[in-house]
Amino acid sequence: MRRQGITLWGLVIGLAGVLALGMTGAIIALGDTLYPTNTLAEALQQDIAIDSPFPIRLRLWHPSIAIIVGFYLLFVSGLLAMFSSNPQVRRYALALAALFVMQLAAGVANVLLLAPVWMQLVHLLLADLVWITLVLFSASILNTGRETAAVLVEINPSGPNPVGFSER
Ligand code: HEM
Repeated sequence: MRRQGITLWGLVIGLAGVLALGMTGAIIALGDTLYPTNTLAEALQQDIAIDSPFPIRLRLWHPSIAIIVGFYLLFVSGLLAMFSSNPQVRRYALALAALFVMQLAAGVANVLLLAPVWMQLVHLLLADLVWITLVLFSASILNTGRETAAVLVEINPSGPNPVGFSER
């Protein structure tokens, strides 16, 4: 993690954003269980009513955070992949973008179908896959500089060592 500069912060913000997204999702899933509705119109009315309980009012926040975090991750992962020499990083960035778009579609389907259990499971599975892919993407980005440094140190032990690589 040392000497990763802005890359590390870019990844930490993305990871924190997906964490916040998952937390709001878990709370609204609880709200859907505690306050079930029979029609989409009734659910939307609940969403905007000022006297609705907290988990219901959060229903508008969850997709909004999803869109902001989605654009942020697309931008940051695209940028980092563009400047990375590691093909694995590009593969993870592509997978992340594809999974995020699928998850946005699954979220919309969840709302339209009034969150049946099978759709909740699909949404939860995609959320896990987004998280796993983001962690793998972050790990491969943070490792790329280290691998390059290891090769440089091996070729020329007294030469450049960009991230302060040591054998230990
Ligand atoms: C793209 C990133 C998204 C992620 C990572 C995400 C993540 C999650 C998570 C972890 C849950 C809790 C699931 C559970 O505990 O059962 C959840 C619930 C939910 N999300 Fe999302 N979500 C995303 C996008 C969206 C969008 C765009 C919408 C709506 C347009 C949406 C609508 C819902 C609804 C209605 C629930 C409650 C029902 C359920 O449990 O599936 N989500 N989300």
